[in-house]
Amino acid sequence: MKIYVFGVRGDEEAPLKKWASENPDVSIDYTTDILTSETADNAKGFDGVCSVQREPYSREALKKLHDFGISKLSVRNVGTDGFDYKDLNDFSFTLTNVPVYSPNAIAEHASFLVGRLLRRVPEFDKKFENGNFKWAPTIGTEISGKTVGVIGTGHIGSVFARIMQFGYGAKVIAYDIDPNPALENLGIYVDSLDELLEQADIISLHTPLEPQDYHMIDADAISKMKQGSYIINCARGGLVDSQALIDGLDSGKIAGAGLDVLDNENGIFQKDFGSIDAVPNEKFKNLAKRDNVIITPHTAFYTKKAVHNMVYEAMDTQKALLSGEITKNIVDTKEFAKTV
Ligand SMILES: NC(=O)c1ccc[n+]([C@@H]2O[C@H](COP(=O)([O-])OP(=O)(O)OC[C@H]3O[C@@H](n4cnc5c(N)ncnc54)[C@H](O)[C@@H]3O)[C@@H](O)[C@H]2O)c1
Repeated sequence: MKIYVFGVRGDEEAPLKKWASENPDVSIDYTTDILTSETADNAKGFDGVCSVQREPYSREALKKLHDFGISKLSVRNVGTDGFDYKDLNDFSFTLTNVPVYSPNAIAEHASFLVGRLLRRVPEFDKKFENGNFKWAPTIGTEISGKTVGVIGTGHIGSVFARIMQFGYGAKVIAYDIDPNPALENLGIYVDSLDELLEQADIISLHTPLEPQDYHMIDADAISKMKQGSYIINCARGGLVDSQALIDGLDSGKIAGAGLDVLDNENGIFQKDFGSIDAVPNEKFKNLAKRDNVIITPHTAFYTKKAVHNMVYEAMDTQKALLSGEITKNIVDTKEFAKTV
């Protein structure tokens, strides 16, 4: 059995080689190049393909794979929005993804954003760089005793809720359209999003971005929040209206925001602009220059454990597919493409 692997980043090489050494019955080859109509030629003579990339998958590349007799494709991430599902269906592809790879990676990152905001770390960092080691007036706030509102309590939100409640001693409340039975005994659920917005001091988003949830946090939602609330978004950028957030920060209604995702992050994240001023996006610049906003460039997932799990899960799934086994993680390409 032969699997060709596209788009291998430096941090993926070690786990990929380890996987190959543990699966001597599978012969692999790989490239750092992403899958394009040109690089697709590399996969000639292979049985299946594993890939990851931020750029869209072209119809020409998929047609070439199809012409080489390849019909199984495993991506090493959740997101399948880089595919036109019509192309996959036209060429009879079976597509798999990695829906869960390390919820803790994202939940921990969200908790760090809360901590860094409340202890005013960006301001302390600036003072430190200038040799100013005075405490005042940069006084912090404790998470303990604050009400943390968790929107979406699936794989990631449930871990975040536990970190906040049992790690920091926050009062956690949660809203979910389909509450998680594993959390029911904590008695944290409120009945509506409005209730959560009205009660929480810190609001953290952990839902997918369904079309009806686009800009779930807009001016109207912000108007319902407590004065001086904090917003954390490590889920999907489109859940928060950046302009409404900017207005909320300007008015003081929002005390701070921790953002790993932004509604217009495409074309910004994963690029090196040399300076914030060079970023061609006014809303991004506005947010990035504030001391009470922390932006991380969609790095919440980016841990050694998560990358290892993404490589292993995708390769295991591809191997199972090629072995004719019924496997998990098959993407329903009749549905909408998943994002992230
Ligand atoms: N920043 C990153 O690096 C990163 C990495 C992985 C995942 N994510 C994102 O994190 C989010 C959560 O991922 P997950 O694996 O926990 O998903 P999940 O499917 O396990 O959980 C999502 C939860 O949200 C609930 N939900 C859906 N719509 C809702 C709504 N309108 N209001 C309230 N609850 C709602 C669901 O019922 C479910 O319990 C997703 O948006 C995902 O794309 C971000």
